[in-house]
Amino acid sequence: MKRFNTRKTLRHHLQQVRKDRLRVAFVPTMGALHQGHITLIHHARTLADVVVCSIFVNPTQFNDPEDLKKYPRPIDTDIRLLQEAGCHVLFQPEVSEMYGPDEHWHMDLGRLDEILEASHRPGHFQGVTQVVKKLFDIVQPDIACFGQKDFQQFKVVERLVAQFQLPVKLAMVPTVREPDGLAMSSRNVRLSATGRQQALALYRALLWIKTDMTAKAPSTLREEAIRFLESSPGVQVEYVALCDAQTLETIDEFTETRSSVALVAAWVDGVRLIDNMLLN
Ligand code: PAF
Repeated sequence: MKRFNTRKTLRHHLQQVRKDRLRVAFVPTMGALHQGHITLIHHARTLADVVVCSIFVNPTQFNDPEDLKKYPRPIDTDIRLLQEAGCHVLFQPEVSEMYGPDEHWHMDLGRLDEILEASHRPGHFQGVTQVVKKLFDIVQPDIACFGQKDFQQFKVVERLVAQFQLPVKLAMVPTVREPDGLAMSSRNVRLSATGRQQALALYRALLWIKTDMTAKAPSTLREEAIRFLESSPGVQVEYVALCDAQTLETIDEFTETRSSVALVAAWVDGVRLIDNMLLN
């Protein structure tokens, strides 16, 4: 695996790759890699000749400085995992390589910047679009892979690509779960053994919704899931939402023609967790 820290050296390398007419797939990450990321790398390998992964803990997408400080950075393990997964290129820039001293640009993300994650993490998706746009400009991938776990992030990146007419295809890769159902996340390592068990409530709430969806209205399912989470020890629910999977607007009924998604965010053991499940 080749490693680059600067835009210039990575660009230079990828120019040669393109001269050789090889397809490039890109997996942007913030490191602290787990099986979910490795699945993205494996998927990327099926889509292109060269897989580029970035590890960059992007400061502009953290609205809580404590969260940024506590974000795990096990770089040696990450490099080993990427090598074992067959990643070809790692881009690992410093903050000064990615941002100028006084950068405040903003993109119109419409409702995506107001609802769900955006309402609880103001500015988060502005940070995500800033860094993803920069990374896409540097890597110029044919295709980029993102995990379904960050469902709203995927919608935001779709909008970024549409707005700037970027010549990149996007692939959403299904969430990878632990055997007991917990969605894999870099934040899970911060859970205590008790918190780890309590965190299962998110997955159970989503399963509950999916199991009952043919019999009940979305608003009833939402209320029941919130009640379930509120009665689960150690869980502070932020939101449960049943939404149109295209627009992420709340739905008041299920229809055959529209796919829907249930999304949940909650604090467990001092860690903020999110999860979602496609319903039809
Ligand atoms: O999903 C993530 O890890 C990050 O939000 C991303 C897409 C790498 C941007 O920093």
